Amino acid sequence: MVDDLGLELVTFGKVVHFFKEVSSTNDVLKKLAAEGAPEGTVVIAEKQVEGRGRSGKRWVSPRGGLWFSLLLRPKIRVHESFKLTFITSISIVNALEKVLRIKASIKWPNDILVNGKKVCGVLTETASIDKSIEYAVIGVGVNANFNPSSLPLEIQEIATTLTAETGKEIDTEHLLRTLLHQMEKHYGSLGIFNTILTEWRRLDCVLGEKVVVNNGVESFEGVAIDVDSQGALIVRLIDGSIKKVTSAGISLGSGLDP
Ligand code: BTN
Repeated sequence: MVDDLGLELVTFGKVVHFFKEVSSTNDVLKKLAAEGAPEGTVVIAEKQVEGRGRSGKRWVSPRGGLWFSLLLRPKIRVHESFKLTFITSISIVNALEKVLRIKASIKWPNDILVNGKKVCGVLTETASIDKSIEYAVIGVGVNANFNPSSLPLEIQEIATTLTAETGKEIDTEHLLRTLLHQMEKHYGSLGIFNTILTEWRRLDCVLGEKVVVNNGVESFEGVAIDVDSQGALIVRLIDGSIKKVTSAGISLGSGLDP
């Protein structure tokens, strides 16, 4: 593959392990990572029976979806792992645009929405040595070719699938190739994170919107005004005070949390 500058990008997806069914692609790849698998290794499965989302939530992963994990060995500190999630989210939006000509957006911190509903999520898990990342496993789940009725009822209200939104069968192999290419390209910009942040701000659908934040301890309302260089969502509350949100579920308006 060749990127926009004509440079060869061949590390991501050079080694691919394909499975019919796994517990979770993240778990399989973590094991390979601990055994020394090289950066760029991909684990992909047709179906996951113990797919995981953020905050330990279950991620329903029937046949027809694109469920994969990518191994990275970045030279960054653990607290910077959000950068990998940011790069991945941007890459997903770019790939959806390139392959399907659809406009997707990012909902902080890790959701990809199409027509206001979630089609994709990113789960970044890391292993560390002394606060530095030893490896990161980036799990990506794309609701591609299945009927949203396969999802639990409460999820159907907030999530959708690409085939339902486009009326087309999705070429998941093409989507994966494009996505890996985009990820490898953006990964090259990890050291100049401002570029990534600027792109994130352009694609984020939360900025400027009224949000309800629930971090498990407290719940409050405000307007999301920015994402800072630490990956935190900056929210202005009704009384004018500013809160930095580092890890939480957020809803747009007072709706549900995709
Ligand atoms: C989220 O939105 O909460 C993140 C969902 C991440 C799901 C993917 S599917 C592939 C990989 N394996 C998992 O068990 N989870 C991630």
